Amino acid sequence: MRQFKPAAKSIPPRHFLTLLDLTAGELQGIVRRAIELKALHRLGQAYEPLKNRVLGMVFEKSSTRTRVAFESAMIQMGGGAIFLSPTDTQLGRGEPVEDTARVLSRMVDGIIVRTFEQQKLERFAACSSIPVINALTDAHHPCQLLADIQTFIEKRGDLSGRTVAWIGDGNNVCHSYIHAARQFRFDLRIACPAGYEPSANVLAEGRSQVAVVRDPTQAVRDADLVATDVWISMGQEEEHAERLHRFAAYQVDQKLMALAKADALFMHCLPAHRGEEVSAEVIEGPQSVVWDEAENRLHAQKSLLEFLLAR
Ligand code: CP
Ligand code: NVA
Repeated sequence: MRQFKPAAKSIPPRHFLTLLDLTAGELQGIVRRAIELKALHRLGQAYEPLKNRVLGMVFEKSSTRTRVAFESAMIQMGGGAIFLSPTDTQLGRGEPVEDTARVLSRMVDGIIVRTFEQQKLERFAACSSIPVINALTDAHHPCQLLADIQTFIEKRGDLSGRTVAWIGDGNNVCHSYIHAARQFRFDLRIACPAGYEPSANVLAEGRSQVAVVRDPTQAVRDADLVATDVWISMGQEEEHAERLHRFAAYQVDQKLMALAKADALFMHCLPAHRGEEVSAEVIEGPQSVVWDEAENRLHAQKSLLEFLLAR
């Protein structure tokens, strides 16, 4: 009988569940490469390092940018993507994430997951033998930060030593800003109402780069970048009235922007609610870079996919 050698121990996959899963050097490399991939794309040059590769895309919440950016990224890089929503898959009928992860690992080359609890994503990744990417959870949105950092660097250069003001909810995007402050070495001032601070654990992970204040004017003074996000995130719809009331003093308007540096940028991950977290004048104004920021989701995610899948 023919003797088979035992299978070589496979290398554990790299996951991207938060910005702390990669080193600062790796993150900088991904952002630099995103800028190069954007230039290649502008020239109309085909670049297909992911030929025949497939990305599984599990979405338990709505998405425009994240979904379209990942799907386009895979197509442009020569591969394909499969959108998997709970209404059309067995996940929605209670199949455990651990089983789904093991099955998908045998059919596709990478998986992105948008879900509620970070813990669910971690359970998924623990059973996956291929890279898993966080496409947003209640706790983190690391892909957004790759695009935000890319946008700042393109417009203003290196972010290290600069000051970023986060105005509003200490939410998932804010948590990823805290991790980014540590990894990209900028100072982050977060202004939020009492009871809506970022989680203590994540704040501790930001180390000395992060300060929380109540007064938005204190946070934006001389800032290089002012960022905000919706007051009511996906899954918090029942808190709508209470949140509108509690965040009323936290709108980024022209008066607030005027306190930041004269060349300060305004960012918002989108979708935005004009008249709530940002005024129409600011989001449509000259300091706003939200459309470049949204476009950069494509280039930054291409770079991330190349880093994780084209190995
Ligand atoms: N910013 C962002 O993640 O947008 P989507 O919810 O549209 O993906
Ligand atoms: N904080 C928002 C971000 C959407 C991209 C949410 O979770 O709904």
